[in-house]
Amino acid sequence: MKSIVIIGASGHGKVIADIAKNVGYEKITFLDDGRAGALGAYEIAGDTSLIESFDADFFVAIGNGAVRKRIFEAVKKKDKRLPVLIHPAAIVAESVKIGEGTAVMAGAVINPDAVIGEGSIINTSASVDHDCVIGAFNHISVGSHIAGSVVTGENVWIGAGATVSNNITICSNVLLGAGAVAVKNITEEGTYIGVPARKK
Ligand SMILES: CC(C)(COP(=O)(O)OP(=O)(O)OC[C@H]1O[C@@H](n2cnc3c(N)ncnc32)[C@H](O)[C@@H]1OP(=O)(O)O)[C@@H](O)C(=O)NCCC(=O)NCCS
Repeated sequence: MKSIVIIGASGHGKVIADIAKNVGYEKITFLDDGRAGALGAYEIAGDTSLIESFDADFFVAIGNGAVRKRIFEAVKKKDKRLPVLIHPAAIVAESVKIGEGTAVMAGAVINPDAVIGEGSIINTSASVDHDCVIGAFNHISVGSHIAGSVVTGENVWIGAGATVSNNITICSNVLLGAGAVAVKNITEEGTYIGVPARKK
């Protein structure tokens, strides 16, 4: 039986479970360090101290990039497989490369020759255009759009409905707020909001 353990029993985890079911996982179990019981139809079997006891694939479904990275690395250390989960209703060009443990939600579009780092989230109806290089542990939020040839560092969060213009580079540890539009390179970590995006 194809089994997956999802770490993080949240709304985001629910969406990951839905994708896992759609791509053929028959047994889906959650682990969470702060919640017990069940998440809808799925059992929360315990906390992350149980990682080793499961013979299954794993997925880290935690929104915060730094926490996602920490748990992702803990899972990897235990030699567990972290698959890429792509919703059947996402459009991903053949030449796209996606790192392990990344999720691509329904309605997302990733165009040719884009590279997506490990542990990232390409959320519902987001788009990542041709030749982008998206770093590890990024979150490209719902309805945001990344134009062609954009490069992002690690732990970059592009907020809901935000836009990044083509050929822009964004350094690590940047949060581009909801609805913001980045039209220039961002070279200093921090939070950026507005149109055009400026440091908060
Ligand atoms: C930018 C952000 C991190 C700021 O959060 P915060 O530090 O808690 O800021 P606050 O909510 O206290 O707001 C402070 C001020 O900034 C303004 N502001 C907050 N977010 C803003 C945004 N995205 N664009 C423009 N202005 C914003 C607020 O209106 C407020 O203005 P005021 O002082 O005139 O009332 C947050 O609003 C945001 O955009 N997060 C991204 C959420 C998201 O995209 N989630 C997607 C999940 S898939």
